[in-house]
Amino acid sequence: MPIITTIDDLKRLHKRRAPKMFYDYAESGSWTEQTFRENTSDFDQIRLRQRVAVDMTNRTTASQMIGEDVSMPVALAPVGLTGMQSADGEIKAARAAEKFGVPFTISTMSICSIEDVAAHTKAPFWFQLYVMRDEEFVDNIIARAKNAGCSALVLTLDLQILGQRHKDLKNGLTAPPKLTPKTLLDLSTKWRWGLEMLGTHRRTFRNIVGHAKSVENMASLHSWTAQQFDPKLNWDTVARLKEKWGGKLILKGILDVEDAKMAVKCGADAIVVSNHGGRQLDGALSAIRMLPSIVAAVGDQIEVHMDSGIRSGQDVLKALSLGAKGVYIGRAYIYGLGAMGQAGVTKALEVIHAELDTTMALCGKRDIKDIGRDILLVPEDFEGRWA
Ligand code: GLV
Repeated sequence: MPIITTIDDLKRLHKRRAPKMFYDYAESGSWTEQTFRENTSDFDQIRLRQRVAVDMTNRTTASQMIGEDVSMPVALAPVGLTGMQSADGEIKAARAAEKFGVPFTISTMSICSIEDVAAHTKAPFWFQLYVMRDEEFVDNIIARAKNAGCSALVLTLDLQILGQRHKDLKNGLTAPPKLTPKTLLDLSTKWRWGLEMLGTHRRTFRNIVGHAKSVENMASLHSWTAQQFDPKLNWDTVARLKEKWGGKLILKGILDVEDAKMAVKCGADAIVVSNHGGRQLDGALSAIRMLPSIVAAVGDQIEVHMDSGIRSGQDVLKALSLGAKGVYIGRAYIYGLGAMGQAGVTKALEVIHAELDTTMALCGKRDIKDIGRDILLVPEDFEGRWA
């Protein structure tokens, strides 16, 4: 068993243990993957200020996101098909998050249903909604999330249609995977995954199959989005859903100051500065680059979160120092899940927490709530001059 000390270690193990089509699904950006790459490489441009001779006892990373106590302000992002990376993946991830004291967000395109996760956890989790054309389905899933005790609705605004990811098309991505000579050959080397999958009945999109109108290929994310997702989604829809939900509302997929202002106007509780992990509009700027201007425009009126590109505790610290109140990890925990199930998600959280805590201390800070731009060295042209 390799010794795990980094998120990259988990990534290597995930690649070895999960079927290629699911690893590729997680590790994809759209089109040329420029935005996907820059989401991570742009973090490297920001440096940290070393400070010394500061008392480092009694450090804390405890904070709050949308008024909920968190052991560190790092939530698990909604990720489609999580239960295909490891059997019952959403339940495993939710349990790891609960034990660690951070929020878990279940995706509409999850394998385990909202009810499945609620039955296996105690802490309230967050529910991410994709708006479908079928209003009855949307109203019904909102009611299901309420019944399950979800404490926030995370409404995704940047995926009415799916960005093209070449690998998914070439791999013929479905949940469950279609058994072809190619997939069987791959699965023959992924016996651990296969055995666990045979032991569960959760193998397709259980949040929507049986609840939404059927589509041509029930197992395909591509078919669901093309046939069911609502391309008309607009700010009036957001207002309607806010009213229908009646609880904490987080708007995910904001990458522009104008849209951030709209989010404030509609009365949301938080926004997530995000480009969907580089999976939607390729050529968009990285989320970390857009964060400072969005914080400057609306940070005093709404809680600003960010995702897209976080792979370490240092990345978390950089995003928080630039004004995010909390961040989300997607791939970073999915690598852990694909590598070692629930223990792998816990490992990912531990790695990130240790990196965050040590880095904060070496920057001369003891409390995550006290950090700010003063601990960073940001290139003067970091945000760029774009005409
Ligand atoms: C959403 O479900 C995605 O694949 O990005």
